[in-house]
Amino acid sequence: MATVKIPADLDTVLNDAWEKSREIPGHLPVVAIDPHNSPILLDRQANPEASSYQAFLDSIHSAGVSSHVESHLAYSTDVANSWNRPIRLLWIDGDHSYEDAKKDLDGFFPHMVPLGVVAFHDALNAFPGPIRVFVEDVLRSDRFGPAGFVHSIAWAQFRPQDGHAFRERRSSLARRASRLIPSVENGNELHGLTKKRYKLNRFRVPHSAIDAGEWASLVDSR
Ligand SMILES: C[S@@+](CC[C@H](N)C(=O)[O-])C[C@H]1O[C@@H](n2cnc3c(N)ncnc32)[C@H](O)[C@@H]1O
Repeated sequence: MATVKIPADLDTVLNDAWEKSREIPGHLPVVAIDPHNSPILLDRQANPEASSYQAFLDSIHSAGVSSHVESHLAYSTDVANSWNRPIRLLWIDGDHSYEDAKKDLDGFFPHMVPLGVVAFHDALNAFPGPIRVFVEDVLRSDRFGPAGFVHSIAWAQFRPQDGHAFRERRSSLARRASRLIPSVENGNELHGLTKKRYKLNRFRVPHSAIDAGEWASLVDSR
C-alpha cells in the first residue's frame, strides 16, 4: 500500500488559511464539477443509478464548508461551454484520458487570470492524459512561469507577461517528464519492463514535497 507523508505544518497552514478566509463570505467559493457517476469509483453494473454525489455532499458538510462550495452535477465540458467567470486555481482531476484532460484545460484555461495556477492530479501516476497535457500545453508554453511536481501533482503559474523568463527551467522539466508519455499513452496497465522503465523515468522527475512557504516563494503572489 502507498504511504503518504503529511507535511508537519499542514494543520497550521490550513487553519491559518481558513481563519483568514472565513470572514469573507461568498468571496472564496470553490466550484466542484463532477457527474458523480464514475464506473471506476462505483459498481454501476450492480446498480446503474449508483452515484458518489451524496458521499461528496456529506463530506463537505462534515468539513463545515458546504456554503463555500458551488457544486455542479455535470460533465466538465458542459459547464465549460457556458463558463464566464475568472479562475485563480484550475484543478484538473476528472477523466484521465488524453482527450478529456486536454478538453478540461482548453475549456477553462481561457478564463484563468494572470498569476493563477493550474494543477493536474495524477500526472505522475500511470494515466495518459494529465502528464501529456501538462508537458505539451503547459511546460512547453511561454505563457506559464514557475512549474513543478509535488508527488503526483503537476502545477504551473499562468504568467502571460513574463513566462518566457522561466523557459529554461520549464524545458528541463519537460525533457524529463516527456519520457513518461510513451509508457502510458495507450492507457494500458503497466507490467514488466515497461513498468520498470516508467518508474525509473518518474524517479528522474523532481517531485518531492515542499512546504507551503517554499512553494509560495516560487510563485508571484501579488
Ligand atoms: C480520480 S476521481 C477524482 C475525484 C475527486 N477529484 C477526488 O479527489 O476525490 C475522477 C473523478 O472525475 C469524474 N469525472 C470523470 N469524467 C468527468 C468529466 N468529463 N467531467 C467532470 N468530472 C468527470 C469522475 O466522476 C470521478 O469522480
